Amino acid sequence: MTQTPPVHPVSRRGLLTGGALAAGGVLAGGAAVVATRAGQTGPPSVDAAGTTPVASVGGLVEPFYGVRQAGIATEPQAHGSFVALTLRAGTDRAALGRWLRLLTDDAARLTQGRPALADTEAELGLLPARLTVTFGFGPGLYRAGGVDDRRPASVADLPSFRIDRLQPAWSGGDLLLQICADDAISVAHAQRVLIKDSRPFATVRWVQQGFRRSPGVEPGGHTQRNLFGQLDGTANPQPGVAMDTAVFVADGPAWLRDSTTLVLRRISMNLETWDLLGRTDRELAVGRRLATGAPLTGTAEHDEPDFAATGPDGLTVIPDFSHMTRAHVTDDRYKILRRPYNYDGAPTAEGHADSGLIFASYQADITRQFLPIQRRLADRDLLNEWTTPIGSAVFAVPPGCQPGGWIGEQVLG
Ligand code: HEM
Repeated sequence: MTQTPPVHPVSRRGLLTGGALAAGGVLAGGAAVVATRAGQTGPPSVDAAGTTPVASVGGLVEPFYGVRQAGIATEPQAHGSFVALTLRAGTDRAALGRWLRLLTDDAARLTQGRPALADTEAELGLLPARLTVTFGFGPGLYRAGGVDDRRPASVADLPSFRIDRLQPAWSGGDLLLQICADDAISVAHAQRVLIKDSRPFATVRWVQQGFRRSPGVEPGGHTQRNLFGQLDGTANPQPGVAMDTAVFVADGPAWLRDSTTLVLRRISMNLETWDLLGRTDRELAVGRRLATGAPLTGTAEHDEPDFAATGPDGLTVIPDFSHMTRAHVTDDRYKILRRPYNYDGAPTAEGHADSGLIFASYQADITRQFLPIQRRLADRDLLNEWTTPIGSAVFAVPPGCQPGGWIGEQVLG
């Protein structure tokens, strides 16, 4: 697909000099393979001194430039930090342009394994580990820039749902930086640089940090597990036409074409009451088996669920109010791409967990795709017993840019 060309390894020379990305050496997406020189692949090798293995994960690079932003269709990395910023008074259209040029430049460098401009810790910029930086614009940014006519119509405050217990500390935001990489230090360094760039223009509103399985823990292609132990992501639209149709806007003016939208919900998961449930009840709540992720009517993860099948008691095998039944969408145009991260905060002194999901949903249109699903879930979903939305924010994710350009140029330029 156009948005996620294959991952490139950083060349050995590039690592040592902080120089440009290796030409060639194009590998299958997400494969943890290393290049010691441009175009040469193989197992991790050793440097001239014979001591330092070239990192197999650290050197991998996701392209920054492209018609669409990276970090959406990109195979999710292990670590994610979502940084929401609030514009300072006086950050107008011209200032937004200056700021976004700066952010774009530093994001482009860091994602390619090059230190940021005036990077105070240049060594930390050399191992991107598939770092991506994805920019989201909240409704307030369009107002401040005087470009509200370029705000995608569905990017507006969500209606409130009866299940919501939203906290301002996790909600809203004018600009979002979604920073993801397979290494937590790469994320932390990029976050620090980009927040430094932002100080004259905005204040930090909230930061949400999360994680998924690390590379190498399981063979590629595995669906990650959330902290309820469920395989989470099975029914996502697959890369290719299905994802393109669901996630990216196909036509329209330049500021809209190849854009998408992001709904970010912080959803706390009550692990303690979940622990009290038997395995069968846990599986009924979602409609899938814990071990395999298979629908209750099937045997393998990707078997089609049969929502009409009934058991000896005459009830549907997959409960009508299971999470999967309520969330299910068959038409590709109405699907959403879930790219969530688990969070696990410090427990209380009494040992009660602070865990949940940073639920990130990408779709071409929030009103058409996300809202009907969220309404059905808020209305009736067995999982609601153990989950509570405590934060919520919406962002437009503008198209990508080419070298020399900047993210947001179609909106603010
Ligand atoms: C903590 C909260 C949540 C948890 C633990 C959770 C967990 C799951 C699990 C285990 C599945 C089945 C496997 C899969 O297809 O990924 C699933 C499916 C799904 N979930 Fe959630 N989910 C949560 C919140 C949400 C929210 C807020 C939405 C959207 C508003 C949502 C939308 C979906 C959709 C669309 C599917 C696929 C349904 C299908 O077509 O089979 N989920 N979720």
